Amino acid sequence: MRIFYLNPCAGLGGAETSLRELLASVRAAQPSWELYLVLGEDGPLSDVARSLGVQVTILPFPERVARLGDSGGGLARTVWSLIQALPSATLYSRRLKRLLAAREPRLIHTNGFKMHLFGAWACPNRTALIWHIHDYVSTRRFASRLLRLASKKASAAIVNSKSVARDVEKTLPGLSVRPIYNCVDLERFSPWGPKADLDALAGLGPAARNTVRVGLVGTFARWKGHKVFLRALALLPSAAGPVRGYIVGGAIYRTEQSQCSLDELRAEARNLGLEGQVGFTGFLPDPAEAMRSLDIVVHSSTEPEPFGMVIIEGMACGKPIIASQAGGAAELFTDGENALAHLPGDAPALAKQIERLACDAELRERIGRAARKTVEKTYHRKRLAGEVVSLYESVCQGGAMRLAAATRGELAIRA
Ligand code: GLC
Repeated sequence: MRIFYLNPCAGLGGAETSLRELLASVRAAQPSWELYLVLGEDGPLSDVARSLGVQVTILPFPERVARLGDSGGGLARTVWSLIQALPSATLYSRRLKRLLAAREPRLIHTNGFKMHLFGAWACPNRTALIWHIHDYVSTRRFASRLLRLASKKASAAIVNSKSVARDVEKTLPGLSVRPIYNCVDLERFSPWGPKADLDALAGLGPAARNTVRVGLVGTFARWKGHKVFLRALALLPSAAGPVRGYIVGGAIYRTEQSQCSLDELRAEARNLGLEGQVGFTGFLPDPAEAMRSLDIVVHSSTEPEPFGMVIIEGMACGKPIIASQAGGAAELFTDGENALAHLPGDAPALAKQIERLACDAELRERIGRAARKTVEKTYHRKRLAGEVVSLYESVCQGGAMRLAAATRGELAIRA
């Protein structure tokens, strides 16, 4: 079995972390399979994949393709960027096609809208194609139309939650959709292990004794709600006791418009009077160390979160998470049992939950323990490998049937 994975970015955002776990799970379950990864840029993911025994090829996206994205900016701007990117996108898909034709993979597994499209254009005839869809498709005006056109080439789509499954079934009718939850490395993300010195990393002085540390860990995508988190910190009453906030992460994407900058967030913190009360550590290579140093982990996405890797990672570290309860994220926890919830964008509600946990060490402990248990039961590599490998096998068998049917002049069937 030779599988090619295609992924646009090499920074470790949610979809890349999910891919890392998937590669590790498949590698452990099927040591003899040949795994290849094609990346649209070089970055931390390439070394991570190599260390898992995956052969990595960097096929850099042309600049215009790399910066393309319709999650921000106006209609005219998006159309113009698309038109400008077309010639280089055509060249890119030809290069990819040659690369894939030379290796004849049995299956291609794509991540990210751009690679779904390139994968569909460049997929050899005898190769099965699986799209791994991590985000809502209906909210992407252009990408959804292009994906609909290209979806006939895909044998199946893996989606990261039931919520995304409903969206994809509605937006890309006819595509066979399989929800498979992500997993987390339970050894790396665990309550036991080294901690990061967040104060030093953020350039803050030591905190007062009994300070409760609350942090948001993730990329700077706008909809991740960094500003909601900052507003919630500013709303905390003094009764919450000493609380220090941390923003761990950085701007790792190259798409225009879609992410905040560090300067913008620092300015927001200053305007809210939070100087000295919130620290910015920048991107940290080991988010588990950062999470272990926190007493409370916040997830504050302002839009329905398709899944939310940071939620299961924080839970795996035995931390009480306050999560934004919408979309696929709402499938991952039960409010009051193994996490606390607030509605997307509701800074006062988030502040209330921070205060509740900051004042109650026992509650933090109880929720953190239940969180770890949930993750051990559900979000582990063995479960993921079982589900993914069985899908690969059935799609490849379906692919063989499709080929046989096609050579008999019958209609191709979907796996
Ligand atoms: C995307 C989604 C995020 C999810 C991740 C992994 O980044 O936006 O919700 O956790 O993919 O599936």
